[in-house]
Amino acid sequence: MQRSFIRGSGSYLPKRILTNADLSKMVDTSDEWIRERTGIQQRYIAADGELTSDLATGAAREALANAGIDASQVDLIVLATTTPDQTFPATATTVQDKLGIRQGAAFDVQAVCSGFLFALATADSMLRQNLFKTALVIGAETFTRILDWSDRSTCVLFGDGAGAVVLQTGTGAEDEGVIAHHVRTDGSKKDLLYVDGGVSSTGTIGHVRMQGNQVFRHAIANISSAVESVLTDTGYTIEDIDWFVPHQANQRILNGVAKRLGLDEEKVISTVAKHGNTSAASIPLALHTAVSDGRIKKGDLVLSEAMGGGFSWGASLFRL
Ligand code: ACO
Repeated sequence: MQRSFIRGSGSYLPKRILTNADLSKMVDTSDEWIRERTGIQQRYIAADGELTSDLATGAAREALANAGIDASQVDLIVLATTTPDQTFPATATTVQDKLGIRQGAAFDVQAVCSGFLFALATADSMLRQNLFKTALVIGAETFTRILDWSDRSTCVLFGDGAGAVVLQTGTGAEDEGVIAHHVRTDGSKKDLLYVDGGVSSTGTIGHVRMQGNQVFRHAIANISSAVESVLTDTGYTIEDIDWFVPHQANQRILNGVAKRLGLDEEKVISTVAKHGNTSAASIPLALHTAVSDGRIKKGDLVLSEAMGGGFSWGASLFRL
C-alpha cells in the first residue's frame, strides 16, 4: 500500500537568546512568574534581516542531510507559517528558490500553532495520491515580529525558529510511516486569539491579542478530543504510544493534556523551556530535538498534537 514515510528531520534556531531576566527589564514581569505559569525560561529571536524563509531553509537543509536525500529530489514543499516573508509570494516558493529546486510545487499553509499538523496532513494526502514523491514539510516562524512588546501577557510567551521533516512515498503496512491525522477548526472562537491587523482589514501587520485563560481552557479540551479521535480511528491505545510530541505552548497545557489522557509524563517531549512557543515551528523543532538526542528512535510510534488561533487544532500519528 502506498504511504508516506518520515525520512529525516532538521531544525534551525536564530543565534540571539532572550531570557526571562531580559524580558523583566522590558515589561513588568519576572522570571518567577513566567516559569511558574508557562515553564518558559528563554526564547530565540531572529536577527534584523533574518527572515522566516532563512530559518525554514536552514531547517530544510538539515532535514535533507539527515535523510540522505538531495534537494534535487524534492518535488513538494508545504510550509506552515503565520509570519511569511511577504504577503506574496508564498514563503515556500522562496525556500524552493533558496534550495535551488526548479521542479514540483511549493505553497504555504496557515493554521497558526496547528500549522505543522495541517501541513503534514496536506503533504501526506498528496503523496498518498501519487501527486508528488518527496516532500519537505516545514514549520517556520519569526513570530516575535508580531508581538506587542509592551503587552506582558503575550510577549513573554513566543519565540522564533524552524523545524522540518522530509516525507517520501514508499510501500508499507498500515502501522508504518504516517498513519493518521485529525484536523479541525472553529472560526467562532477567533476573537480569543488573533492579530489585530492584516492586509485587507487595516493594511498594517498588527499584533497578537489573546484571552490567555480562555485559550488555556479550550486548548486542553480540543487537544484531548483530537488525540482521542486519532486513537479511536486507528485502534491504538494511549499505552501504545512511545512518544508524545506536542505543540510547545506552555508546560501547564502539556501537563494538563498528559493528565487528562492518562499519558506517562516521561513520554512527553518538552522543549518549551528553551524555545518558548514558536507556533508552527514548535512540533518539528521538538521532534528533531528528541531524535537528535537519541530519545526517539526509528520504529517508535509518535503522537503529535496542537491547538492555536482560529481556533485550529489537531493530532497526527506516525511511526518514525
Ligand atoms: N508577568 C506578570 N504578571 C502577568 C504577566 C506577566 N508576563 N502576564 C499577565 N500577568 C498578570 C495579569 O495582568 C493578571 O493580573 P491581575 O490579576 O492583577 O489582573 C494576572 O497575571 C493573571 O492573569 P491571567 O491571564 O489570568 O493569568 P493565567 O494564570 O491565565 O496565565 C497565561 C496567563 C500564561 C497566558 C495562561 O493563560 C496561558 O498559558 N494560556 C494559554 C495561552 C497560550 O499558550 N497561547 C499560545 C497560543 S495558543 C497555543 O499555542 C495553545
